[in-house]
Formats: sequence, C-alpha cells, structure tokens
Amino acid sequence: MNSFNFLGSEETIFSNPDALDPDFIPKLLPHRENEQQFVATAIKPLFHGRTGISLIVSGPSGVGKTVSVKRVVMDLEEHEEADNIAKINVNCWKANTTYKVLQEISLQLGLRFIQNLKTNELINKVMDRLKQYDGIVIVLDEADKAGDTDFLYHLLENIKKRTIILLTNEPNLNAKLDYRIVSRLTPENLEFKSYTRAETFDILKERIKYAFYQGTWNDNAFEKLANVASGYKDIRIGLTLLKISGELAEQDSTKKITLEHVETAIQRIGNIKPAAVNKTFKVEEKLVLEICETHSGKTTGELYKEYKIARGKKSEKTFKRTLNSLEKKRLIKLKPTGEGFQGRSSIINYLGPERKLTDF
Ligand SMILES: Nc1ncnc2c1ncn2[C@@H]1O[C@H](COP(=O)(O)OP(=O)(O)O)[C@@H](O)[C@H]1O
Ligand SMILES: [Mg+2]
Repeated sequence: MNSFNFLGSEETIFSNPDALDPDFIPKLLPHRENEQQFVATAIKPLFHGRTGISLIVSGPSGVGKTVSVKRVVMDLEEHEEADNIAKINVNCWKANTTYKVLQEISLQLGLRFIQNLKTNELINKVMDRLKQYDGIVIVLDEADKAGDTDFLYHLLENIKKRTIILLTNEPNLNAKLDYRIVSRLTPENLEFKSYTRAETFDILKERIKYAFYQGTWNDNAFEKLANVASGYKDIRIGLTLLKISGELAEQDSTKKITLEHVETAIQRIGNIKPAAVNKTFKVEEKLVLEICETHSGKTTGELYKEYKIARGKKSEKTFKRTLNSLEKKRLIKLKPTGEGFQGRSSIINYLGPERKLTDF
C-alpha cells in the first residue's frame, strides 16, 4: 500500500455525507426524467388557472417514486406562476387518519390555534385556507397506508383547482378506493418500473459524486457494490452500502474504498430481505408482526386485544392464520399453553430481527 494513502485524523473521504441520507433530494435524478415530466405536465394547468390532473403513482419500493415527485414539487419554487399554489406533502403512513392528515396540512400551511378543534371544524378551517390559493398540489405518499380517506373526499369536494398525487406500492390502489373518491379524482396512472442493472450503476455512480471526494472508490469495489444493489432492486440498499463502505474505509484510515470494505458492508446488511421477499409481506402481516414485537411473550388472546386496539379489522380466526404464516416465515414462535378454548391458546415470542435499513 502506498503510504500516502492514509487519512489524517481530521480528514474524511466524504465530501458531503448528507448526500447519502434517505431524505436527500438530488437536483438530477438519472432515469426518471420521463416520469418527472409526466408529473410536471399534470401540475402545469394550475399555472393557467385551470384544474390539474390527478395521478396515482405506483411501483415497488426504492424505485424513486417519493424522490421524483418531491423534486418536481420543489422545482415549482423556481416558477413565478406557482407562487400562489399551495404545495403539500403528507405521508399517510405517519398521518394515517383524516384528523392527522388535516393536522399535518394545517402545519404546512402555517395555520394556528387548531389544537382543540373537532374534526369538522378542522376540515372547514383547512378548506377555507386552501380556497385562498390559486391552486393546490397535494402529494399523499404511502397512500395505501391511509387508515381512512375521508379527508380526500373533502379535498375533492371543496377544492377545484388541484393536482392530487397518490403514491403507492400497491399496484391497484384505484380498485381499493371508495367509488365516491375515484369518480371525483379521475386519476391517471403513472407506473415506476424497477431500475435495470445499468440504471442502478448510473444512479449510484452519480451519487458518489455528491457524497465522496474524487478518486476514493476503487473500480472493482464499486462494481461489486452496484451488482449487489441491483439484485435487491432497491436503490436504498445501494446508498446504505455506499455509506457503510465509506465508514469502514475511514475506520481503516485509508483514502481508498476497496473490495474488502464493500464485502464487509454487504455482510452487515445480510439480514435485509430482497424486494422479492418483501413483496409477499402483506400489510396485514406487518401490523400483526408489529404487535408481536411490542407484546412479545403474551398469549394469542391478549395479542388479539392489542390488535383490535391498533384498529385491526380481521376476525380472531384470520388473526391466528396470520400468526401461523408469520411463524412459517420464522419471524415469531408460537408455544401452546395447553390452556384456553380447546387448548388452542399459545404464547407468542417475537424472533426478529427483520432488520430495517434505518438500523444502519
Ligand atoms: N433516479 C434516482 N436518482 C437518484 N437517486 C434515486 C433515484 N431513484 C431513487 N433514488 C434514491 O433512492 C432512495 C429511494 O427512493 P424513493 O424515492 O424513496 O423510493 P420509493 O418512494 O419508490 O420507495 C432515495 O434515497 C432516493 O433519493
Ligand atoms: Mg416512497
């Protein structure tokens, strides 16, 4: 090894570590130019006082749905015509009730004194404010996770100059939405396909320019990383591997990221399941698994109570079937207690860890 390849204690190989954060929004998104154009076209009529086109944006996880739509909405800032257009982004996984969605919208609009309002009052207040704009662009991310969609109905009824963009991993969200909503929304569909291997290479190569000093990556190290990342079909995995590999090189005090660093990084994320496995993991299973994790060691009956509290809607029978399928996937363990109705009660132990990317 060349002795000048060592990093000084104050030195770093990251020119901008933030560029590897999950929330970082690059200016240019390679291979999503057409999709971004489609979104921009849906918003454009608002510039001229007309109503916009609403969209359902679908596609698997990690293919750039969120980042592409956010980038287009951010780019509106550069257009004078969009000055009086409200730009709202709500994650329906985090805000999963009508009340919470409205609270989030209020926050983004800078509405005050909303703490003690009843749902109806909050609806009126938000709608009155929205009507003051020339148009609204509202992005509802993870729309398939919304617990109820009443807020959408109110938006559709009250606000005429609008582009509503629903983002979803579920391929046929349209079929799941209430008829009252679909008939008013009349959305166009925009599907994001998985990136090819070559596209994954380009995207990660481009991100390296944002995040690392020049010349830090060995070609064979990058190639290995990009190959593995493209197998996962989720750019997030690639970004996580870039970050861990860089940190490992820094721990070694070297200026070069080598194949060895990348291989260690790959081992570290070894427990993350590829997208293909994730796809078979249903929303219902996710909810039940979360409950098993929080209440590990309790009985089936106790867990079912927690499930109802968490707004689970399925019968106890279906709930038990879900437990069985989680056991088959080795995420939980059922231990019969020999008690309960016909001796069918079990103690549930959460096995996990189904490691998440955010664990790194
Ligand atoms: N074309 C692209 N160019 C640059 N970064 C991308 C691209 N597509 C996805 N990413 C990055 O990959 C990660 C996952 O993208 P995201 O938009 O959150 O996916 P999705 O919403 O489809 O699950 C984000 O950190 C995002 O910045
Ligand atoms: Mg997303």
